[in-house]
Amino acid sequence: MKDEAFKVEMFRFVDVFPYLTRPESVARHLVEYFCRPEQDFPAALQWGLRRVSPKSKAAQTVAKGIASNIQNMGKQFIAGAAPEEALPVWKSLRSQGMAFTADLLGEAVVSEKEAEGYLERYLALLETLDDVQKTWEPLDAETGDLDWGCVPKINVSIKPSAMYSQMNARAFDYSVGRAKERLRPIFRKAVAARAHVCLDMENNDLKNLTLAIYRSLLEEKEFKDYPHTGIVIQAYLRDSEQDLKDLIRWARKKKCKFTVRLVKGAYWDAEVVWAQLKNWPAPVFINKHETDANFEKLASYLLKNHQWVRCACASHNIRSIAYVMETAKEHKVPQEQLEYQILYGMAEPVRNALRKAGLCLRLYTPIGEMIPGMAYLVRRLLENTSNESFLRQSFAEDVPLERLLRNPLELLNEEISSPDVGDAVSEYGDTGAFQNEPLWDWTLSENRERFTKALREARKKFPHEVPLFIGGERVRTGKEIRSANPNDPEQAVGIVASGGKKEVEKAIAIAKESFPGWRDTDPADRAEYLFEAAAQARKMRFDLAALQVYEVGKNWREADAGVCEAIDFLEYYGREMIRLAKPRRMDNIPGETSHLFYEPRGVAVVIAPWNFPLAISMGMTSAALVTGNTVVYKPSSQSSVIGSMMYHIFQQAKLPRGVFNFLSGPSSEIGDLLVVHPDVALIAFTGSKEVGLRIIELAGNTPQGATQVKNVVVEMGGKNAIIVDSDADLDEAILHVLQSAFGYQGQKCSACSRLIVVEENYNRLIRRLKDAVKSIELGPTEDPENFMGAVIDAEAKEKILQYIRIGKKEGTCLVERDVPNVQGHFVPLTIFTDIQPEHRIAQEEIFGPVLAVIKVKDFAEALEVANNTQYALTGGLFSRSPENINRARREFRVGNLYINRGCTGALTGRHPFGGFKLSGVGFKAGGPDYLLQFMVPRTVVENTLRRGFAPMEDQA
Ligand code: FDA
Repeated sequence: MKDEAFKVEMFRFVDVFPYLTRPESVARHLVEYFCRPEQDFPAALQWGLRRVSPKSKAAQTVAKGIASNIQNMGKQFIAGAAPEEALPVWKSLRSQGMAFTADLLGEAVVSEKEAEGYLERYLALLETLDDVQKTWEPLDAETGDLDWGCVPKINVSIKPSAMYSQMNARAFDYSVGRAKERLRPIFRKAVAARAHVCLDMENNDLKNLTLAIYRSLLEEKEFKDYPHTGIVIQAYLRDSEQDLKDLIRWARKKKCKFTVRLVKGAYWDAEVVWAQLKNWPAPVFINKHETDANFEKLASYLLKNHQWVRCACASHNIRSIAYVMETAKEHKVPQEQLEYQILYGMAEPVRNALRKAGLCLRLYTPIGEMIPGMAYLVRRLLENTSNESFLRQSFAEDVPLERLLRNPLELLNEEISSPDVGDAVSEYGDTGAFQNEPLWDWTLSENRERFTKALREARKKFPHEVPLFIGGERVRTGKEIRSANPNDPEQAVGIVASGGKKEVEKAIAIAKESFPGWRDTDPADRAEYLFEAAAQARKMRFDLAALQVYEVGKNWREADAGVCEAIDFLEYYGREMIRLAKPRRMDNIPGETSHLFYEPRGVAVVIAPWNFPLAISMGMTSAALVTGNTVVYKPSSQSSVIGSMMYHIFQQAKLPRGVFNFLSGPSSEIGDLLVVHPDVALIAFTGSKEVGLRIIELAGNTPQGATQVKNVVVEMGGKNAIIVDSDADLDEAILHVLQSAFGYQGQKCSACSRLIVVEENYNRLIRRLKDAVKSIELGPTEDPENFMGAVIDAEAKEKILQYIRIGKKEGTCLVERDVPNVQGHFVPLTIFTDIQPEHRIAQEEIFGPVLAVIKVKDFAEALEVANNTQYALTGGLFSRSPENINRARREFRVGNLYINRGCTGALTGRHPFGGFKLSGVGFKAGGPDYLLQFMVPRTVVENTLRRGFAPMEDQA
């Protein structure tokens, strides 16, 4: 499969195929995958496929043929759909002198019911195997009933992610505990049946959790002396050496042997992409030879410590295997203390050679149905065809044996290593390219510990006493706003000064007075203030995040993301100003120069919401400041303490006094005063549609004597939909829908509140979604295990409850979760089905954890329903149909459309954010046009011709 493009389409087709329940869907997908105009695939193939009418008999025949081919391909790598089906395979392998390990394939576990199902399947598997093991002779054993005299005949491999559906590194110990609850019965059964259990290693996010689960289970009294367990180390991980050393140190103390399966790692491509998306350093080596060299290093280490740990070398690479064989001899490792492992259906010549050499050999045999098996199958196909794969190079590409067997360290030295991230060419001059602030890696204990401490410290400072800050002076007003923790309303987070008319006048007057000096400050210097503010925010990062947990009820991850976004705005808009500050030459005519450039508007009023109290506040404010406007900033009353942190950040950055003024106060008292003030040139607002429209109306009234027409930048709400197409990958769709609909209690303007499902996928989706939603942990967000906490205040709670009552009348309540039995503004997480597009629940913005599900017959109807609201903010689509994806690009008319991912979480610079229709007016935040609306463009034209002579540079 040399043609990469064809390979990609082929794998994508294999991946989607089991989901296609109708022959016409198969025919349609074949055409869409292989007959697109831009594809340079064999003409005969394209001609043939196009001629098959989707509903014809021929389409049915084609679909059947393909089904049996894919089924056969699956059978090559999967030992059977169920354990009973795999029994003859295992028997046959054993008769050829090979042991096996059984792995149960499955869909991603999205609910506790599915995790429970997994547990039951493993218990049943162990039972089935226990029944038959008596009939199996041990392999190569002189005495006893163990294979090779030392290991059980039964061996199972388990993916820890299947043991707890809500596994998350933030709630590390809790997740470990929950996963162990399900592993314990399996281990007990294994002990009773004398079976070996190995925990497989999955993606890097789960690595530390998996190691902790394994170690803490094996420290429990009932298992600590059981020698037949194992864990996996992935040599492609940079951390793997340290992890292995820790394991061996532990093994020495433990004095009970276990097995380490050494692999290179099956998720290399995904790890690289995920790291780049998060702007984290890649956790894996980037050069294949480094992985190979590390595999050898770790193998040496393992073999040297063979009295503590058994080694299982799981590789198809002859060089890697040969290295292990030779090193084992060097360290005099008894033959039975080292086994070789191969994946079922792969590298047959290698396995035959190992068998012939009389070595201990085990085959990894997965069991499962087509749909759940697809991810596994595609991984194997990728492995066999990847450019870097030993198998491809040795069996398909005939790379000379001498090269294949060379020392990877030598090969590494001969190659110039490639950098982790390419050096992006920057349009921002010396400042360098913009990069998103990386989120914390919660798998690291130091981050969890620091944040736990920050939360503890934050509580000690409550309630914060917050004055107004006008012209750099602290101003007390005699009136106060109490800001409370939504999860525990008794807890006052702050007592905040409440401004009135007098303070409005004062703040605007000082902002006006400070304007000329700030306007005339070099834009590059203004940008520097932003970069310094970003540096200050970074220093305060843990504290700022902690405050967001308490004042507005964000969970750990959302709180961290909010601070990162604020830093991103500072870094991004600073750079954008540098780009825009250079006057643009508009003509190229000798004798005349024409330059376009920008200058600020004047006093900007920034009115911010509580749901992103730092990020959105910082976004609007930093844009106004860096473009040269002075700012009067009004935070939301519910989040004024976080709002006041903006002042501290800018103060630390030494922003001149009067340029930024902090004016908290109730919107009902000071909102209109700020908007209509004749000295205000610009209003930047994010919040509800009602308030946004009112601001647009008020600002449109230019008072007598005013010297400017006000400009408004208004971002309002959304009624965002995610469409789930008939062929969507539900493992992905469900997780993203949960995050988009219920992340931060559904209180994001980008949140998904309508789920539009094409009927072919409806029943499958609803069944799994219901169970998944029931598994979400609810409670105060201070506790990291809780995904969802309380809503912002009592008023919001009442409004959401009202919509739940409406939903019950309009549709069918699929799930209504009980609220946690604690103080706080908790509302039930609720999903309604049988909703019609025109229902109120499908039209009005709720701003809470309420999801309306609408069933549609096909994709065209899905688009029609999706577009059928007043709003156009975000949207999502889960589909594997290239044609539907293209159609959605054109016809799903929203400001931000996300394909095959959730519809929240826009990143500055990468996903410019903002909508149209009644979702807002203005250019997208975090995008290249945003700053323009904070400035006025000016053009200066000069006739440079003097007595018929034009200077040379003007003619350039
Ligand atoms: P080969 O020598 O061709 O190595 C390919 C590997 O090199 C890739 O898989 C990747 O790890 C690495 N690689 C590729 N490109 C690279 C690059 N540019 N830079 C750095 N490294 C690069 N995996 C897993 O993650 N968890 C598990 O639990 C298991 N379990 C398991 C059991 C058994 C019995 C076997 C045989 C295999 C596994 N694996 C696994 C899968 C294993 O990780 C995978 O088969 C091997 O990575 C393939 O490695 P080989 O040595 O066979 O081939």
